[in-house]
Amino acid sequence: MSSLAHTLINSAALVTGASKGIGWAISQELMRNGIAVTGVARTFTKHNKLDSDVNSAIDSRLFSQWPADLSDIDALAEKLSTLPANIGTLVLNAGYGQFGGLEQFSVPQIRQLIDTNLVSNLILTKHYLPLMKQAGGGDIVIIGSESALQGGKAGSVYCASKFALRGFAQSLRADCSTANVRVHMINPGPVNSDFFSTLNFAPQSGEEFSLQPQDIAQAVLYALSQPRNVVNEEICVQPMKRSFKKK
Ligand SMILES: NC(=O)c1ccc[n+]([C@@H]2O[C@H](COP(=O)([O-])OP(=O)(O)OC[C@H]3O[C@@H](n4cnc5c(N)ncnc54)[C@H](OP(=O)(O)O)[C@@H]3O)[C@@H](O)[C@H]2O)c1
Repeated sequence: MSSLAHTLINSAALVTGASKGIGWAISQELMRNGIAVTGVARTFTKHNKLDSDVNSAIDSRLFSQWPADLSDIDALAEKLSTLPANIGTLVLNAGYGQFGGLEQFSVPQIRQLIDTNLVSNLILTKHYLPLMKQAGGGDIVIIGSESALQGGKAGSVYCASKFALRGFAQSLRADCSTANVRVHMINPGPVNSDFFSTLNFAPQSGEEFSLQPQDIAQAVLYALSQPRNVVNEEICVQPMKRSFKKK
């Protein structure tokens, strides 16, 4: 029996940003432990078919897709009732990076980043909290960033979204502790994913300069597999060395 069977409220999770990168790695890790995953993203690809050797141990019936553009808050709010109700673990991971001076952002670009990285998470949590409380508890895992801890050059809008998530997590944790809802936050440093595909910088080549999505999935698994009285408020994960290159 999986270690999660003893520590999670039920065997169903919702993972946002599950089409690739960190969210897909978390989804696979949960399914490997017998948890059914509803994945949220705009576009699912062939990568989400569980037919490769490495995934042969996973029952493909454990994965279902709930396509949505999380930057469209009004559309999201309208279709919340079509989400599966019985979710014990909510993994708020979807997001993207956009960097540059504040003056370089248009107003729609600011709104899109804040709506995707922050507001959609508040809406989904507001939807699931009463359901979790009714069910006797739950787990909320928030994928933050090192940018939730330290501001830096060209990071004003992205850091605003991630710092806000951290304050959200802290307040939510205080509000929910009597309802057996654990709130965990994972703050990754650079992870080798499509995150950097639209950016003009990336970690230096070499495994010591970036994490893999699986490293973050392992941190999530660790947090979720602790006894229910143990809350990993924040786990910060970094590669051994830090260095970036311009593209
Ligand atoms: N990679 C890093 O270095 C790093 C470091 C710290 C924190 N993070 C955080 O980790 C999270 C996952 O990033 P990643 O590295 O896995 O990047 P990724 O490979 O680009 O994956 C991003 C995921 O978010 C989804 N997503 C983005 N915009 C969306 C939207 N409008 N609606 C619905 N889904 C959306 C994407 O799906 P679709 O494109 O199919 O919609 C995809 O599944 C993000 O919150 C990011 O800020 C990443």
